[in-house]
Amino acid sequence: MVSLRACLSFFVTFRVIVAYKFPYESVQLTDADVANNSDITFGRFPGVIKAQCKAFPGDSNWPTTDRWDVFNSSLGGSLFKAIPPAAACYSGIYENASKCAAWRQQSRSSLSVSEDPLIPFNQWTLGNPCPVPGATPPGSNVTSPPLSACHIEYFPAYVVNVSTVKHIQLAINFARNNNIRLTIKNTGHDWLGRNTGGGALQVYVHHLKDFEYLPSVQIGRYEGKAARVGVALEQYELFPHMEENNITLLAPGSSTVGAYGGYMQGGGFSYITSKFGLMADQVLALEVVTADGRFVHADPKENEDLFFAIRGGGPSNYGIVTSAIVKAYDSISVARMNFNFQTGVNFEQSNITTWVDNSTVYAEATKEPFWNGVDAYFAHLVRINDAKGIGWNTLSTQAPNPIFNRTERLFSFTGQVIIPGISAGDFSNFVAPITQDLRDVGIDIKAAVGWWPTYPSYSFRPNGPGEAVGNGRFVSRLFPRSIFEDANSPEFVKAMAAIRTWVEEGHYNFHSVDYHPSYATAGYPGQDSAVNPHLRTAIMHATGFDTGSYGPERTPEEMIVSHARLNAYAQKWRDATPGSGAYMNEADTEEPDFQESFYGNNYNRLLGIKKERDPWGVFYAVTGVGSDEWRVEGIDGLPTQQGRLCRRSE
Ligand SMILES: Cc1cc2nc3c(=O)[nH]c(=O)nc-3n(C[C@H](O)[C@H](O)[C@H](O)COP(=O)(O)OP(=O)(O)OC[C@H]3O[C@@H](n4cnc5c(N)ncnc54)[C@H](O)[C@@H]3O)c2cc1C
Ligand SMILES: *[C@@H]1O[C@H](CO)[C@@H](O)[C@H](O)[C@H]1NC(C)=O
Ligand SMILES: *[C@@H]1O[C@H](CO)[C@@H](O)[C@H](O)[C@H]1NC(C)=O
Ligand SMILES: *[C@@H]1O[C@H](CO)[C@@H](O)[C@H](O)[C@H]1NC(C)=O
Ligand SMILES: *[C@@H]1O[C@H](CO)[C@@H](O)[C@H](O)[C@H]1NC(C)=O
Ligand SMILES: *[C@@H]1O[C@H](CO)[C@@H](O)[C@H](O)[C@H]1NC(C)=O
Ligand SMILES: *[C@@H]1O[C@H](CO)[C@@H](O)[C@H](O)[C@H]1NC(C)=O
Ligand SMILES: *[C@@H]1O[C@H](CO)[C@@H](O)[C@H](O)[C@H]1NC(C)=O
Ligand SMILES: *[C@@H]1O[C@H](CO)[C@@H](O)[C@H](O)[C@H]1NC(C)=O
Ligand SMILES: *[C@@H]1O[C@H](CO)[C@@H](O)[C@H](O)[C@H]1NC(C)=O
Repeated sequence: MVSLRACLSFFVTFRVIVAYKFPYESVQLTDADVANNSDITFGRFPGVIKAQCKAFPGDSNWPTTDRWDVFNSSLGGSLFKAIPPAAACYSGIYENASKCAAWRQQSRSSLSVSEDPLIPFNQWTLGNPCPVPGATPPGSNVTSPPLSACHIEYFPAYVVNVSTVKHIQLAINFARNNNIRLTIKNTGHDWLGRNTGGGALQVYVHHLKDFEYLPSVQIGRYEGKAARVGVALEQYELFPHMEENNITLLAPGSSTVGAYGGYMQGGGFSYITSKFGLMADQVLALEVVTADGRFVHADPKENEDLFFAIRGGGPSNYGIVTSAIVKAYDSISVARMNFNFQTGVNFEQSNITTWVDNSTVYAEATKEPFWNGVDAYFAHLVRINDAKGIGWNTLSTQAPNPIFNRTERLFSFTGQVIIPGISAGDFSNFVAPITQDLRDVGIDIKAAVGWWPTYPSYSFRPNGPGEAVGNGRFVSRLFPRSIFEDANSPEFVKAMAAIRTWVEEGHYNFHSVDYHPSYATAGYPGQDSAVNPHLRTAIMHATGFDTGSYGPERTPEEMIVSHARLNAYAQKWRDATPGSGAYMNEADTEEPDFQESFYGNNYNRLLGIKKERDPWGVFYAVTGVGSDEWRVEGIDGLPTQQGRLCRRSE
């Protein structure tokens, strides 16, 4: 802590000039408000709670209904007992055929999931407590399953629908004072289960969407354009603001991902990251409610520990962010090349075209040229990143298909190269060597090159069509840039072999986004943040999903076996990238040695900040800093958030 302050104050010469906060931040909890209600008093130091476990509904120390009612009054009525929408499909008090039919249609849409205050994007993280049951054929004699099969108790017990800072302060105080688990939901997109918990009080921040363009700010050593952003703004909501003000802001790749919740707090990469850095690198100031219930400002000069930790040090662990001030840039153009190649003619493209628009034709290759083409393309990653661009690709595989008389497994590569701030002519020249190198190994790609005058014109999809929600497991690895500097090096060969084995032998699809958010690109103040140091040296964020092996129809034993297999193939990536780590927001919730992998050598400093700022353990997020001191009770050996949260015994 001392060294952190000393180190930061060295840089800080200016005071924050911007004093305005959003209207929802002016409504705050006062000492007078809490005077005669011990449930909602602010936290005091030292504040260690010794209880082994968080209280769970039904426990003797769970607050009575009367006290919840008083809490609800203090919130002005914004507390509710949330019910998972799928409960409408079960017999009992919530049964409602039309509601069930509607949810059956919407439950796989990320937009609908975002709008629901309770449920997370991936319900397996809760153990699939209330799956949408199979449809009942009309006129059939099948009754809805009993409500007891929809485990409402495994979801958060209550939700606070936040519309002011005061709501957040009250929720934190009530949860801390009553030793109740607290969870935070923004869009619910989290893959790891950091956004949900059985028996929790859930803080739903989804409506804090204000925006203000700040043409000129001076914060620390930064002088220039910026924007004040409500914490719940989603990607698709940022583009109209960019257009209106003729600026560029960093944004996630997918439309319904929240820009400043888990995305920013875990790092957050974008199509324009190799030019402007990660989302955490954009942040100049933060407004935060801390574990003691107080509302504070954090920037390079004030509350520097929080300012450091929240920018990349993991979501949902040091405080609840309500808004940020982020860097804004001049409007910028975007250029992109799409290209595809595959083995065989009968690759059923329906399953992969969702990843790209199909403006290109698939070039054909036989098996060895195919893999040579993959190597030839990846040999260009350093060049692409040096041009401030990113690579984006998917390697897919399909089993032999008797319908097509196909006896061989097929492979397909779909790639994109995206570079901001380059003219159409320069971009054509830039990609020519890629096309040539592929041709040289026998793959005559038909690349589709496009150019867009602004980032919104490239990325904006009105209303955020949303991505499909599903059950799956994720693994990932950051491949260091050094591996790609020489395509003849044993390191490059080993990395390519690990990727090939993943697809060819593991039969998993491979996806990577290839960006390089170096310290130099991060600039000030981003380079002094809690962003995973492994991201700074990486050039490839490799991810793999297994979407076919998880879900309510599988037994826990089957899912454990599936995960062990997935992890064994991921281990080959780790073996090919010694000393590297993984990007925490798109990773395995059971990542081995997550402390090193997700936080690198920032871990101990972050643990110090966590202990000092949250001695009560108000905030818990699986794989978060300090989370290894806790565990969620479960019975089947699978990672879950549904059970009781307890301290691990010494
Ligand atoms: C379809 C899809 C596309 C994606 N694309 C990208 C991408 O292009 N680039 C990328 O880097 N990542 C991407 N991700 C991963 C994304 O960064 C994570 O899913 C991230 O956790 C989403 O944050 P959220 O706030 O939207 O979601 P939530 O699930 O609501 O929250 C995620 C975490 O942040 C915490 N949190 C939310 N709000 C706050 C707050 N105000 N204060 C404190 N903690 C808070 C939650 O408690 C939880 O721990 C994608 C994910 C999905 C599902
Ligand atoms: C304190 O308690 C009294 C009586 O219960 C109530 O009328 C009053 O509104 C409370 N004050 C605050 C600030 O909540
Ligand atoms: C909280 O109060 C509001 C408004 O009075 C009410 O509609 C809601 O049902 C209450 N919530 C709970 C959990 O009782
Ligand atoms: C069933 O749900 C619909 C909304 O989906 C609602 O309009 C209707 O009132 C509900 N019916 C009952 C009986 O609650
Ligand atoms: C529905 O199934 C039950 C149990 O199999 C049977 O007793 C009942 O007669 C059936 N009803 C109709 C309408 O088919
Ligand atoms: C939550 O509050 C917002 C206003 O901030 C409101 O628009 C929304 O309908 C509320 N949601 C629920 C589920 O009550
Ligand atoms: C928008 O910004 C760009 C880049 O700074 C500038 O060239 C352009 O003239 C601006 N457009 C408008 C309408 O102001
Ligand atoms: C495409 O995906 C669907 C759904 O996952 C699957 O049922 C189908 O078999 C797949 N088709 C091929 C050719 O792999
Ligand atoms: C891809 O091609 C199919 C058939 O030609 C067309 O229906 C579909 O709209 C195209 N998809 C995109 C994203 O362009
Ligand atoms: C598969 O082979 C059979 C027999 O040779 C032939 O009749 C059929 O048309 C082939 N199917 C396809 C999709 O090529």
